[in-house]
Amino acid sequence: MLIEWNSGGSSAAITSDALCVIVSEAELEHGSLPVEWKARIEPLAKAGLFTGKLNQTYILTAGDLPNHSVVILAGSGKGIPEAEEMRVLAAQVSRAAIRQKVSVLVIQIPEVLMSHGAGMAQTLTEGLVLGSYRRKHYKQEQPLYGGLTSVVFHMEQQTGEAVNNSWNQGIQRGLAFAEATNLARDLTNLPGNLLTPSTLAAAAIEVAERHGLPAEVLDEREIEQKGMGGLLAVGKGSVHPPRMIAIRYQGTGDWENVVGIVGKGITFDTGGISLKRAPGMEDMISDMGGAAAVLGVIDALGRLRPRINVVMVIPAAENMPSAAAFKPGDVITSLSGRTVEVLNTDAEGRIVLGDALTYAMEWGAERIIDVATLTGAVLSILGDIATGAVTNDEPFLQELLAASRLSGEKIWPLPVYPEFREMLRSEVADIRNAAGRFGGATTAGLFIGEFAEGRPWIHLDIAGTAFLSKERGVNAKGATGVMVRTLLEYLLNPSNGTGSEHAAASTGN
Ligand code: BES
Ligand code: ZN
Ligand code: MN
Repeated sequence: MLIEWNSGGSSAAITSDALCVIVSEAELEHGSLPVEWKARIEPLAKAGLFTGKLNQTYILTAGDLPNHSVVILAGSGKGIPEAEEMRVLAAQVSRAAIRQKVSVLVIQIPEVLMSHGAGMAQTLTEGLVLGSYRRKHYKQEQPLYGGLTSVVFHMEQQTGEAVNNSWNQGIQRGLAFAEATNLARDLTNLPGNLLTPSTLAAAAIEVAERHGLPAEVLDEREIEQKGMGGLLAVGKGSVHPPRMIAIRYQGTGDWENVVGIVGKGITFDTGGISLKRAPGMEDMISDMGGAAAVLGVIDALGRLRPRINVVMVIPAAENMPSAAAFKPGDVITSLSGRTVEVLNTDAEGRIVLGDALTYAMEWGAERIIDVATLTGAVLSILGDIATGAVTNDEPFLQELLAASRLSGEKIWPLPVYPEFREMLRSEVADIRNAAGRFGGATTAGLFIGEFAEGRPWIHLDIAGTAFLSKERGVNAKGATGVMVRTLLEYLLNPSNGTGSEHAAASTGN
C-alpha cells in the first residue's frame, strides 16, 4: 500500500475514489464542524444515523463533491482517541473503503491530530495496513489489501518542514511494522502441507537475502552432528525433517549487546504419539506463529536499519506420530548437555526451544526473548486477549511491557514461584518436559528458562493471541502476527539499552 502525506488546500479538491472525514462527538454536539460539512452531517446526527461515536462509519454519496465518488465519515468519539483506538479506527476506515471498492483514499487529518506527528502517522498507517489484511483464499483471486492501493493523509492547513518530516517518518515506520506483521500473518496462515520445516527455512533465507543479512540453515544431519537432541527428537516422526534456522542482523561496528529473538517453528503440531483430539486440530497450522513473528521482526529491521544487534533463531519441525517418532519415556540429550525426560510428546515446543536458546547464545545472544504458541493453559488464563509472559529479569520485562503499551498488543506477566520449578523435577533426567495440568503456562515457560543459563530472558506465550477465531480490532480471523510490533517497539527504543547509546557507553566512546 502506498501511503503519502501532504498539506495545504481543500481535501475536496484532491481527486480520489473516496474522501474520509474524521468527526468527533464534540464537533457535532457543539456545532463546530467546518461550514462545508455542517449541512451534510448535522441532519444525520439528528436522525441518529451518524453521531461521531468512536469507530462508527457512515457512507455519503459525494453529491456535489465532484472529485470523489463517496465520502466516508468516521467517528472519533469524545476527545482524542488513544493509540490503539486510533489504530482500530483506521482499520475500520480501510474496511469501509474496501466495501465501497475504493482504491485511492484521501483521509482528511483534523488539525488537532497534526501535532501528534510521527506517532500518529505510524498508528494510522498500521491501522490501515493491518485492518485491510485478509487470509489468502486458495481459489478466488483477491487483490492485495482488498484493492485499496493508495492513501493520502491530507491536512488542509499548510504545514512546515518539521511537521512534514515527522509525518513522513511515521508513515515509513508504520509501513515497515505493519507489512512485517502481514508477512508473519501470511506465513502463519499457510496450511501444513504448504509450509514444512524446509519451506519455512526457504522463506527465512528469502527474507535474509532481500536485506543482505547472513543466514544459516542446519539440516537434520547437521542438527544431529551438533548435538541438538531436542529438535532432532521432536522432528523424528515426520517425513519432513527438522531445520535449525538463524539470521544475524548487525547494525553496529562490533557484534556486541546482542539480543536473541527465538521463535517456535512447529509447522504442524499433531501432538505426536501423545496425539491431540481431532476437533480444532486444524488450528495447529499456527504452531509456528512465534517463528513467523521473529522473521517479521528481522524483515522490518532490514528495512529500517537501526543501530542494534539481533540474532534470530527458529527451531523448525513437524510434530507427527509414526514408527520413527519420539515417545513418552524417552530420555534425550539437548545441545546444552541437559537431559530431558519426555512425559508427553505434545509438550514439544519447550524441547525445541531449549536447543534454540543454547544455539542463540552460541551466536552471541546476551539477552533473549522467545515467542511461542506454547500452551493451551495460557488460553485458560488470558483467553485470546493477552499474551502471557514469564521472565527471570523483572526490569527487562518492564521495558518490554512499556513497548507493548505502544503497540497495543497486551501482555500479562505470570507469577514465577520456585515451587513451579520443582514441578519439573525428573527422577531419571535433569528435567522433565511436562508437569501436569495445573500451572501449565508457567511450568512450560520455566522449562525454557532453564536453558537461558542465567542470562536475562523473557518468554512470551502467544498460544491464545497468534490465531483468532473471528475478526477483532486490527486483526482479521486467523493469524495476527502478534508480537512483531511489540518486539520492534522494544528493539527500536534507544533507552532500552539495545541501541547505539548503550553500545557506545560499553566501549568507552
Ligand atoms: N502447540 C500447543 C499449544 C497450543 C494450544 C497452541 C492451543 C495454540 C492453541 C503445544 O505444543 C501443546 O500441545 N501444549 C500442551 C502441553 C501439555 C501436553 C503439557 C497443552 O497445552 O496441552
Ligand atoms: Zn505445539
Ligand atoms: Mn504440542
